[in-house]
Amino acid sequence: MFLTKEENNLSKEFFEKGYIIRPAQNINALSEIRNNLIKKITNYLKIKKNVDPNNFLNNIHKEIPVNKLNDLRVHLINEVNSISKFKNLYFQSAKKFIEILVGNELAMQKKISLSIQIPKDDSSLLPVHSDTWSGLSPFEVVVWIPLVDCYKTKAMFILPPKHSSELNNQFKKFSRKSSEDIFRKISKKIKWIDIKFGEVLIFNQHLPHGNRVNKEKETRWSMNCRFKSIFSPYADKKIGEFYEPITLRIASKMGMNYRFPKIK
Ligand SMILES: [Fe+2]
Repeated sequence: MFLTKEENNLSKEFFEKGYIIRPAQNINALSEIRNNLIKKITNYLKIKKNVDPNNFLNNIHKEIPVNKLNDLRVHLINEVNSISKFKNLYFQSAKKFIEILVGNELAMQKKISLSIQIPKDDSSLLPVHSDTWSGLSPFEVVVWIPLVDCYKTKAMFILPPKHSSELNNQFKKFSRKSSEDIFRKISKKIKWIDIKFGEVLIFNQHLPHGNRVNKEKETRWSMNCRFKSIFSPYADKKIGEFYEPITLRIASKMGMNYRFPKIK
């Protein structure tokens, strides 16, 4: 393999821990993402004054009742995904790391997702799961970007590879059980991701992950989006409907359009 030392180290860390956290490759892209989002939120909530980004996002539960939260979330997802520059900013904030781990001819999930976890709210939890269990390709990675500092139950958890293999080996036992049963089984082995705004997380979605009720005093804001090689195998979700090619190279384009000359 002709990978550089840096590429090998990052790959090894990703393989062994199931994730990597790095300072965003482009912190300006990340700030632009956050500022764009805040503008959309203040417009939606008809807030006229300037707000401090950290303070505002961490304390959004003081501005909006929990039963209105999902409307805001859906509104924001639609708004940010309608700006094509936004998707590029998202990619730019982690491009170098995605290219090392996945490759440089990439398909990106068409819709970036947004998660808002306000303190004590149990209405928008993500039960423990692996993305491959619901028809996603095992060839992809998830790029998870926090818009505020995340720690303890304000963050997401992941089951480290070693414990994930143990769970897989006895998975039959859980065939009639709920994800809550699985969570009870792994609750002492999970790793809570400690990550700050300005950093990006890329994780292996084969590993069971999710969140619990946020018992901290601040609201979590995070975005997530999947990336895979254009040419690696797909599962239930296909290119065109779920992913879009973002960095297809000219030789691949020409190869796809090439036709052998007719000889008959
Ligand atoms: Fe997931």
